[in-house]
Amino acid sequence: MKVAVFRKATFNAAHRLYRKDWDDTKNKEVFGLCANPHYHGHNYRVDVKVVGEIDPETGYVIDLNLLNQLIKEEVHDRFDHRNLNLDCPEFAGLNPTGENIVVVIYNLLRPKLDSKYDLQIRLWETERNYFEYPA
Ligand code: NI
Repeated sequence: MKVAVFRKATFNAAHRLYRKDWDDTKNKEVFGLCANPHYHGHNYRVDVKVVGEIDPETGYVIDLNLLNQLIKEEVHDRFDHRNLNLDCPEFAGLNPTGENIVVVIYNLLRPKLDSKYDLQIRLWETERNYFEYPA
């Protein structure tokens, strides 16, 4: 009997979408306002979904305190109040789009979770835009 357990987290961060190998005109054409040179911020929200069997001894799929701690260390503390382009090595050479951020978060959490769990990450960039990985 598999059950999904969710934990929400948030972080506030700045980013800019652009390619160094493109000129300003092309960056503006492709990335619009997100290419503004002086960066802009989002209040990101992350929904972490963990699926597993209920442990008959505890009644838990996963200890939520442990999951919270993991998300705090690997996601919140790493990205909160940072400039994703400049401060975070995870995005050196990787455009910090919602698509790339959600994959980076998955790859940070996946090795820290027992392989008996399925993991899916949903990243909200705005109230209306969100990203999911694995799809
Ligand atoms: Ni943006």
